[in-house]
Amino acid sequence: MSEILEQVKTCPISQISPLHPDLLRCPYEMNRRLRAESPVHRDPLTGIYFISRFDDVVAMAQDPTTFSSVMPAMASRSINSDDQEILDIMAQGYPNVATMLTQDPPLQRRYRKFVDGAFGPANLKLLEPFMERTSHFLIDQFAASGRCEFLTAFGIPLPLRVIASQIGLPDSDLHKLREWTEAFIGNLSQQLDREGTLRAARGIVEFQHYFVERMEERRKAPQDDILSKVVNASIDGETALNNAECLSMLSQILVAGNETTAASLTEGIWLLIQNPGQYALLEADHGPEMISRLVEETLRISSPSANMFRRTTKDVTLHGVTIPANSVCFARFASANLDDEMFKEALRFNIMRDNLKEHVAFGRGIHHCLGAALARREMNIGFRVIFERLKNFRLAPGASQPDFAPNALLHGLTGLDIAFDIR
Ligand code: HEM
Repeated sequence: MSEILEQVKTCPISQISPLHPDLLRCPYEMNRRLRAESPVHRDPLTGIYFISRFDDVVAMAQDPTTFSSVMPAMASRSINSDDQEILDIMAQGYPNVATMLTQDPPLQRRYRKFVDGAFGPANLKLLEPFMERTSHFLIDQFAASGRCEFLTAFGIPLPLRVIASQIGLPDSDLHKLREWTEAFIGNLSQQLDREGTLRAARGIVEFQHYFVERMEERRKAPQDDILSKVVNASIDGETALNNAECLSMLSQILVAGNETTAASLTEGIWLLIQNPGQYALLEADHGPEMISRLVEETLRISSPSANMFRRTTKDVTLHGVTIPANSVCFARFASANLDDEMFKEALRFNIMRDNLKEHVAFGRGIHHCLGAALARREMNIGFRVIFERLKNFRLAPGASQPDFAPNALLHGLTGLDIAFDIR
């Protein structure tokens, strides 16, 4: 076990930075101590305030006037760096514009309005056959071998293919979308070295040029897809969104949509492998009610959107700590979801718990996830098809224990080597 994971059990909590890579990978003990001893925790390294109890995280998410989502440091550049080579690369792209996730009302509502319909119930219903077909197609690729690396074989491609079809992109460009998602995620992780940051900068600029070309195509010949809706959105006959705004929205839909759903699908399988009693319940009954329970409990425990930033607009005093105006705070959604005050024996994976749906994996309030219903449909259909076709999931022989990637905002496994039998 790493030194910091040992220290976090005994060290004075004030001395520990939750942003240590090993604590980003394995945040459970740190979060337990934060909730118990330091619910408003100032990171000794960065000065960021971490809010970790369920009630406080919900209150924060529901008060955008005090806890703003606009970060001045991110306002004009996708990558915050003073390195000239990185600045030169970014200068070839488009400026960063604060839209849905990174914006406050009334502008946040304005941007959401252009895409809310695309993720509404009517559109989702139409998408269900595609999700089902795609789940079967992906399983067809690996079923006969009796083993797979689940994240790359199913977790990543299911949401990627669904979102690409919704945005209106051809299958031949899927690998590029994956690379660009990785560039954005790498940048968000705040763990990149210089080479990694250069690669991320190149990826983001490439993404921007690719999409601006597709956007021009949709302006000339609109189709029935999100890209056409976003670029041709108009108010009083005037084009509503410029290229930089469209790019910001598309990057949020792509990154928020892919990585998170992939992480939850994969962690769901890992949770089943680790909890044979719960797995047996689903083996006995994998009807819609039980699969939906699996999805909600997986969302709660996996909480892939683990931390989201906010900026205080005024001094705020909470649990005796005054957070000065203009401080960066992290709403720790993943910690809130493991708060024993809210979920009895919160660390236990229990698909039969009675308040399953009260988790905050999708946030709360005005920023509540745009793709929550889409992600839920993908997970419900994905897990159902998996249960229909495969059984007896286990770690593949010789596979190492899966590990989580260190990332300041997102939490997900780096891979999951499994073996299974065909039903
Ligand atoms: C398991 C899957 C997912 C999880 C756990 C998740 C989690 C979250 C969370 C916690 C928030 C709120 C952030 C905040 O309060 O600052 C959020 C917002 C958002 N999510 Fe998701 N998400 C998922 C899937 C998706 C999908 C499939 C999409 C694609 C459309 C998406 C797009 C967005 C966008 C655009 C926002 C910003 C909304 C706004 O600020 O108005 N997410 N998501």
